[in-house]
Amino acid sequence: MSFPYLVFRGASAHYTRLMNIRLGLARRDDATEISLMSRFLVEHGLPWSWTESRVSRYIRHPDCSVVVARDRRRIAGFGVMEFHDAHAHLSLLAVRPAYQRRGIGRRIIEWLESTARTAGIFLVRLELRAGNDAARQFYEKLGYRETGRKAGYYDAREDAVVMTRDLSVHSSFNA
Ligand SMILES: CC(C)(COP(=O)(O)OP(=O)(O)OC[C@H]1O[C@@H](n2cnc3c(N)ncnc32)[C@H](O)[C@@H]1OP(=O)(O)O)[C@@H](O)C(=O)NCCC(=O)NCCS
Repeated sequence: MSFPYLVFRGASAHYTRLMNIRLGLARRDDATEISLMSRFLVEHGLPWSWTESRVSRYIRHPDCSVVVARDRRRIAGFGVMEFHDAHAHLSLLAVRPAYQRRGIGRRIIEWLESTARTAGIFLVRLELRAGNDAARQFYEKLGYRETGRKAGYYDAREDAVVMTRDLSVHSSFNA
């Protein structure tokens, strides 16, 4: 088996794994699924704050984007971003375990960052649980850097790491 064949096969397999995933803005009837994904993938061990009604408000709000990655009828991943005057805040992001490490989280972030740039916003901030090493590595890979800590941010039980990315500096493709 030649080296070029292996390269082609690898790229093709990656494409096949992603070809059924479509990104788009969330619909109102996505709120229940997003809320449940948040409860089990993001808020485990904490009070459930991203209830269906809260997610619905974000889907409807003109200064927020809720992006979903769909695998046919199922939501594989989603991201929630709020747009303020001088910065955007990534409020929530999750990809179902069966779909992780396929580039879906990266695509969701890139969509939201692109929306921020279009709005003339070049600073993105987020908080994540201090113990979430996987997410921290993910965000670092995409060019985010730790810029602070918030003690007891999560229900006075867990600290938050604050991460920031300056979108005007470089592309996440090369991070
Ligand atoms: C963090 C999360 C959104 C990443 O989504 P994903 O679709 O798996 O990420 P991607 O496939 O786009 O990963 C892009 C790169 O980030 C890094 N990365 C992603 N997950 C990683 C992990 N578990 N460990 C180390 N690095 C990781 C890798 O460099 C990866 O590139 P590679 O797969 O080519 O090595 C996902 O793991 C998740 O939903 N976790 C649970 C919820 C959560 O923690 N949300 C974030 C805090 S709100």
